[in-house]
Amino acid sequence: MLTYVMKILAIDTSCDDTCASVLDNDRIITNVVSSQIEIHKAWGGVVPNLAKRAHEEKIDAVIEEALKVNPLLTPPLTGRGINLLKNIDVIGVTVGPGLSPALGVGVDKAKELAKKYKKKLVAVNHIEAHLLSVWLKDEKGEPDREIELPALALTVSGGHTKIVGISCLDIASKHHPDFQYKVVGETLDDASGEALDKAAKLLELGYPGGPIIEKMAKEGKADFLKLPIPMKGQKGYDLSFSGLKTAFYYAIKDWPKEKVEENKANLAASFQKAVFDSLINRFEKAVEEIRPKSLIGVGGVMNNEDLRYRLLELSKKRKMEVYFPYSKALNGDNAAMVGMVAYTKALRGEFVEDIEKLDREPRLEIRFKTPPPSSP
Ligand code: KG4
Ligand code: ZN
Repeated sequence: MLTYVMKILAIDTSCDDTCASVLDNDRIITNVVSSQIEIHKAWGGVVPNLAKRAHEEKIDAVIEEALKVNPLLTPPLTGRGINLLKNIDVIGVTVGPGLSPALGVGVDKAKELAKKYKKKLVAVNHIEAHLLSVWLKDEKGEPDREIELPALALTVSGGHTKIVGISCLDIASKHHPDFQYKVVGETLDDASGEALDKAAKLLELGYPGGPIIEKMAKEGKADFLKLPIPMKGQKGYDLSFSGLKTAFYYAIKDWPKEKVEENKANLAASFQKAVFDSLINRFEKAVEEIRPKSLIGVGGVMNNEDLRYRLLELSKKRKMEVYFPYSKALNGDNAAMVGMVAYTKALRGEFVEDIEKLDREPRLEIRFKTPPPSSP
């Protein structure tokens, strides 16, 4: 059997994390994430121009850090600092979707390095990167799992909420997986993570709200406040969270401050439940009607234990496996997942033809090539 050895440097600056990773094929060697939470905290959300400046300040150090640890590579990288790039075969970079000023930093850096060190460059879609994060392996090649396709993925983060069918054109060839995607449902307004962040802001809990709401919800009663389950009973599999946010706002708007204060845990639990009820309701409907062979859960909100548990329950009920990335560190934004896409695209020879012309694509969608016969 033919084995490929490809060393990939991957870069992602699509939102508020400066990320670089080195992979040996689909094995993660290093995965460096420099978070900007401290910068954006004061504003209660990501400020694009502050994100851009922070990416510019951090990007070289983050790339250098990713290139440093190397003995597990075959053959190992040698040298120092950015010079290590001479041993890299391919550079992968997120071109979109994401915040335009932020994306530009990673794209410009990848172009600069590709030209200077004469490397092949792969343009990566950030959503595709989240989707393929379940195929990543650690440096020892674990977990080596066979994910049965077609699969249905629930992608939940601060920027996106989508239900995506994943199929593969050449499933027989593990060496040239040509994944195909079909977005069957998506949020019509806010993303699920964004909804949690906004509710946390309303309750003055801090930023980012998702993890804080999860912690508080553990102490609260989820049936304390009756909230609508967005899109329940609607045709199709789309989602919506802005109405829920408004309903939540009006439900507590006239409450005395002390009442809100006393019930913060109950309110967090109730809001979280409404968001997850909606996600699971829409996803379950899609699973029932589309009948995939396996389920996938990706994105920052998948850090949430309650949501993971509910997906597990759903998978048991439907008698199929559910796959999450092998480590929680791969749920949120990272560059290893970008490297995974770069790996599959490089195997198929899908490199950027004219590096000079490569540009960010803040509104990039998931492309759907030719519908394979088994596609959901
Ligand atoms: O994937 P991610 O790191 O970045 C984007 O691409 O947006 O996702 C960040 C989002 C934020 O909205 C954050 O509040 C949410 O994921 N999040 C969580 C948890 N950890 C992060 N939401 C619920 N529970 C968590 N434990
Ligand atoms: Zn993301």
